[in-house]
Amino acid sequence: MAEPTTRPTDAATMDKIVALCKRRGFVFASSEIYGGLGSTYDYGHYGVLLKTNVKSEWWRAMVQERDDIVALDSAILQHPRTWEASGHLAGFTDPMVDCRTCGQRFRADHLPELQCPQKPSKHPGEAEACDLTQARDFNLMFETTMGPVKDSGATVYLRPETAQGIFVNFKNVLQFSRKKPPFGIAQVGKSFRNEITPGNFVFRTREFEQMEMEFFVPPDDAPRWYELWKAARFAWYVELGIREDHLRLREHDPDELSHYSSGTADVEYLFPIGWSELEGIANRGDFDLKQHAEFSGQKLEYFDGQTGERYVPHVIEPAAGADRALLAFLVDAYDEDELGGEQRTVLNLHPRLAPVKVAVLPHLRKDGLPEAAAEVYAGLRGRMQSEYDEGGSIGKRYRRQDEIGTPYCVTVDHQSLEDSTVTLRDRDTLEQERLAMEGLSDELAARLARPWSSPKAGASSTRVTGA
Ligand code: GAP
Repeated sequence: MAEPTTRPTDAATMDKIVALCKRRGFVFASSEIYGGLGSTYDYGHYGVLLKTNVKSEWWRAMVQERDDIVALDSAILQHPRTWEASGHLAGFTDPMVDCRTCGQRFRADHLPELQCPQKPSKHPGEAEACDLTQARDFNLMFETTMGPVKDSGATVYLRPETAQGIFVNFKNVLQFSRKKPPFGIAQVGKSFRNEITPGNFVFRTREFEQMEMEFFVPPDDAPRWYELWKAARFAWYVELGIREDHLRLREHDPDELSHYSSGTADVEYLFPIGWSELEGIANRGDFDLKQHAEFSGQKLEYFDGQTGERYVPHVIEPAAGADRALLAFLVDAYDEDELGGEQRTVLNLHPRLAPVKVAVLPHLRKDGLPEAAAEVYAGLRGRMQSEYDEGGSIGKRYRRQDEIGTPYCVTVDHQSLEDSTVTLRDRDTLEQERLAMEGLSDELAARLARPWSSPKAGASSTRVTGA
C-alpha cells in the first residue's frame, strides 16, 4: 500500500503565489526586458520590505534576544584556500546528466521529480526519444577571476554558503567579542550556487540569501545544543505564524549526512510541491575549525585562562534561506474568500512580517478628508511602515491592502472631522471599530506586538489521502 501523504487543500498554489508576487511587485523575473535570466529574481517594494522583516526577525531571535551570539558580515569573495579547506572545491558537486536528444541538463538524483521537456507527462530518460549520458559530477561553485587580466589573475569563487566566512573569522571574533564557548556567530548574506535544475520560483535559485549561525560549544555539550537548536528553530517559524501542522522536523538518515556531520535535521514545510527543506540544523563537530587550522597554519581553538583547558570547539549550525522562508510565509499566508459577492485574495501574514503595517484611507477625496487623513498618516509613518491611498472606492482600497497583507486600515470619514475618531479595520476578523485619533500610533504599536496566530490554523486545510 502506498504511504499516506498529506496534501494541502488550501487555496495556495505555486502559480497563484507567483502571479500575486508579480501583480503586486513583490518578486519578479530578473532582466525581464531581455527575456529573463534562468531562475534569477528581483525583489520589488513589498518583497524588499517583507524579506527585510524576515531577516530582522531572524536577527531579533539570534542576537537581540540573546547575549551569547554576535553578528558578522564577511566578504562574498574569500581566499581560494577557504574552499579547499572546506571541501567545496573537491566535493561540492551534484551528479548531472545531459540528454543528447533535447540538449537539456538534469540533476541525475532528481530525475523522478523532473519533467521531460519534450514529453512533460514523463520523467527525463523515460520517453522513447530520451538519450541520457552517464552521470558526471558538476561543481556548483561560480568561478571568477580576481584582478584585471583574466589569464594571469587568481581564480576566486562566489561563496556557496555564508558559513565558511564565519569559520575563517573564528579567531578574530573570539578576540573582539570577549565571548567563550558556548557562543555563536551569526551572518546573513548572499550565496551563489550554479544549480543544475533550479526552479519552483524562489525555492531553488542560483543567487539567494542565507541566514546562518555557527554555535561553538565544548565538545561534550554538542549533543545537548543540537537538540536545543532544533527546537528553537522550529519554534521560530511557529511564533511567526506558520501553521504547526504544515511544519515538521525530519532527522537525516545516516546515508544522507554530509561528510562533516554527525547529525542533521531539516525543518520542512508543506509547500504546494510537497514537504521540502526550509532550514537545516547540523552538528558539524570540529571538522571546519580543524580543516581551516590545517590549511592556514593558524591555531583555531579555545584556551580557557582560568582552567588551563584548551580545545577545538564543536559547532552546531542552524542554516536557513531567507528567500525560501519568505516563500513559506507567503504560501502559508495566502488565502481566498468571498466578501460581498466578490472574491478577496488576502495574505494572512504575521503582523511583524507584513510589509505595510497600516494603510490610511480618506473615505472620500473631498470635504477636507484627504487633508485630515494625510495628518493621521504623518503621525504614523515615523513609527511604522505606513501607506496612504486615496485612489478608487474604499472597498477596492481594502482589497489592495488585503492582497499585500496589511493588518490594519484606518479610514478617515466625515465623523472624524467632528469627533477626531477614525475607523480601524482588522484584516483577519474584518471587524471595524472607532478609535480616537489621539494615541492611535500607541494603540496600533500595541496591537502589532501582540501574539498572533493564522486565521487559517485549525481550518480544515489539510487532508490525508492513502493514494
Ligand atoms: N552551511 C550549510 C548550508 O549551506 P544548505 O542546506 O546547503 O546548508 C541552507 O543551505 C539553507 O539555504 C537551505 O535550507 C535553504 O533554505 C537555503 N538554500 C540552499 N540552497 C538554496 C538555493 N539554491 N536557493 C534558495 N535557497 C537555498
